Amino acid sequence: MHPTPQPSLDGARPVGEIAAAWPATIPVLSKLGLDFCCDGRRPLRDACAKKGLNVDETLAALHDALANQTAAEPSLVDAPLDHVIDHILVRYHRPLDEELPRLTALAEKVWRVHGPEHGELLEPVVQTFFALRDELVPHMHKEENVLFPWIRAGRGATAGAPVRVMLAEHDVAGGLLADLRSLTDGFVPPPGACGSWQALWAGLAQLEADTHRHIHLENSVLFPRALAG
Ligand SMILES: [Fe+2]
Ligand SMILES: [Fe+2]
Repeated sequence: MHPTPQPSLDGARPVGEIAAAWPATIPVLSKLGLDFCCDGRRPLRDACAKKGLNVDETLAALHDALANQTAAEPSLVDAPLDHVIDHILVRYHRPLDEELPRLTALAEKVWRVHGPEHGELLEPVVQTFFALRDELVPHMHKEENVLFPWIRAGRGATAGAPVRVMLAEHDVAGGLLADLRSLTDGFVPPPGACGSWQALWAGLAQLEADTHRHIHLENSVLFPRALAG
């Protein structure tokens, strides 16, 4: 009997699969702007070409991240689906119950104080954040009340239609996050930004990082495995 071969981290593997199997690579993928979230089915080689990156250098950076990780972050690719869902709820859904209202209050405050002088910069950021919030809240309700219970009941193989809706909504959220990144110049506060403004930009940057991981786990781990039955 032969041992099961370990999956290899190479240019042919989809970026989402790399992030799922080796979570320690996620900071490197993020830093290089390689989309492991909504566009995670793209092979690494193609994703590098799209970004103008050398695939061998990128693979070397990913292998370095694995070699230097202090504590291996557990991959959820083989975890029971109940466990994956619990992790998504505890780590990503529940924190947003507090974080989205906190960011809303912060955005309203920064808008109230600085909108009159910096409206051109602030208005599209605040409006885009509100659009993202209004997308995420009902989206999570649908997952929690319909799709996740369906998957927990072992009926994921028949959930093709709702999964497609969730994937489309993830694309919308991913697009709004990309807009926020470009509108805020990579979440770098302008010179002289007050403490609240800096806190808002930092909160949006964290929201981007967490939402990318959140969507990635659903797109590349939970949904494919649930659909496979
Ligand atoms: Fe979710
Ligand atoms: Fe989702």
